[in-house]
Amino acid sequence: MAFTPAITGTGVFTPEQSISNAELVEAFNAYADLYNAEHADAIAAGEVTAKEHSSEEFIVKASGIERRYVMDKSGVLDPKVMHPLLRQRSDDEPSIMAEMAVNAAKTALEHAGKTAADVDAVICAASNLERAYPAVAIEIQELLGIEGFAFDMNVACSSATFGIQAAADMVRSGSIRSALVVNPEICSAHLEWRDRDCHFIFGDVATATLIERVEDAKGAYFEIKSTRCGTAFSNNIRNNNGYLRRSRPDGMKDRRDMQFMQNGRKVFKEVLPMVSKHISDHMGDEGVEATDLKRLWLHQANKTMNDFIGKKVLGRTPEPGEQPNILQDYANTSSAGSIIAFSKYSDDLKDGDKGIICSFGAGYSVGSVLVERHG
Ligand code: COA
Repeated sequence: MAFTPAITGTGVFTPEQSISNAELVEAFNAYADLYNAEHADAIAAGEVTAKEHSSEEFIVKASGIERRYVMDKSGVLDPKVMHPLLRQRSDDEPSIMAEMAVNAAKTALEHAGKTAADVDAVICAASNLERAYPAVAIEIQELLGIEGFAFDMNVACSSATFGIQAAADMVRSGSIRSALVVNPEICSAHLEWRDRDCHFIFGDVATATLIERVEDAKGAYFEIKSTRCGTAFSNNIRNNNGYLRRSRPDGMKDRRDMQFMQNGRKVFKEVLPMVSKHISDHMGDEGVEATDLKRLWLHQANKTMNDFIGKKVLGRTPEPGEQPNILQDYANTSSAGSIIAFSKYSDDLKDGDKGIICSFGAGYSVGSVLVERHG
């Protein structure tokens, strides 16, 4: 017997601290000045390249980002630190990722009118996991008091939609009644804040999505009509940090490749056609026309990128509100971005309205979820 899966609740945990572009640029420029003074002789000798200042105008123009939430701004804005400073927690305390995810998950359960007893599985799908094991998902399961099972997965920026596909397929097959897909993203900890090419890109957040059988929904819900995932290997977004670090010569040094690296222009050129084709093929195979779509909830990396994809998919410039962006306030929150947009801009849809959630990024990876509102 096959069941029909639906998104019945969502939740967003937003950190208390936020950094404006003005604060970010001020800290970066102070860091660049310190660096240049410290390396003045080597710079004069042509052995070291001087750091150039960052600019608010560039950031808004190139990305559309105006501010970002973070778990700690004190370290990020200290020119002598330039990364978040997070308290070391004991092994007996909830880990920070689990705490963020639990917060979002509780909101999703409340939104759906459900409790832990209604949930059979937890998938923690995120770009970075704070440890190798035990799985963060199992800790979240324990903290919420959920029976059943839990596991972690990582498909970078597409983790949320890949997680939704995994959960929806399990609900459809009957192996579980329901699952929470949680996406705690502490992007501030893998971002290289000392590199002006990317220091403005990321922010922190956690999102949660409850997937259940349609017949178990207590209120309005979004039926998951179908999902589609795709990947194609690329080094244009990469992070070399990993458990083999200690075993390699220079592995423990302060190396640039241990943080997020990207070739932004290439990502732009290669990911845009990949995503546009992915969504169009998904729609074509489901017999969905552009005119059938009421909303696109896209991955939140770059405004120009989203404008391009929206236009390509709909065949015209999207009307205001048809393709809501949250990146101006949250920046790129990796896998959580499209779910924040969905969570904040879906309640107004009417019975029968269709939309697509789509995330994309490192891998490369792209995932799309076609949903239809009921109730
Ligand atoms: N302040 C001022 N100038 C800056 C700057 C900053 N913070 N950062 C870079 N610049 C300069 C560059 O050095 C470059 O100068 P040059 O022309 O003299 O070489 C110029 O501005 C343009 O830089 P570039 O990196 O080519 O800008 P861009 O228009 O490609 O925008 C991104 C950069 C990252 C916003 C854009 O490429 C992007 O969004 N790419 C896709 C990102 C993405 O989706 N990534 C997925 C991550 S999960």
